[in-house]
Amino acid sequence: MALILGAVTVAGALPILVYLWPAPPKGQKKGPVNITLDKPIDQLGDGEAIKFNAPTSPNTAFIMADGGGDNAAGDLAFGGFAVKNGNKVDVFAINCSHLGCSVALNEAAKTFDCPCHGSRFHLDGTVLRGPAPVPLSHLTWKQGDTSSVIQIDGIVLGF
Ligand code: FES
Repeated sequence: MALILGAVTVAGALPILVYLWPAPPKGQKKGPVNITLDKPIDQLGDGEAIKFNAPTSPNTAFIMADGGGDNAAGDLAFGGFAVKNGNKVDVFAINCSHLGCSVALNEAAKTFDCPCHGSRFHLDGTVLRGPAPVPLSHLTWKQGDTSSVIQIDGIVLGF
């Protein structure tokens, strides 16, 4: 009896689980993405930021760790910035939290500026000027094999 009840439960729950956590499309694979920065991360000066892009062969994206506005945890980004803020390094997705345009580093002002509607962000990702409603999204990362390499949570899109 217990065996039949267990089999019925599994048979009933399986379609729901597949619906909630579908397998990625064929060829897609989540995992750490190795990015080689233009400068070793331990040589960044305070307030220095480096832009990087996701690999394109094969097409790869970074997975946002948090968000708000037009960004959300789990959304994809195709570029980002590594920034030395005091004694820590922040890694942000390049997407503006307003409507998702790519922000650019304003080296003179030490800000990230969005060309679309004028939002500006401090180097710690917080909003300096709207209409962006919330800070830039973080990317989850760790040091790679050398100080020039960081590993960022991402997904190989396979196309
Ligand atoms: S998308 Fe950046 S300000 Fe609108």
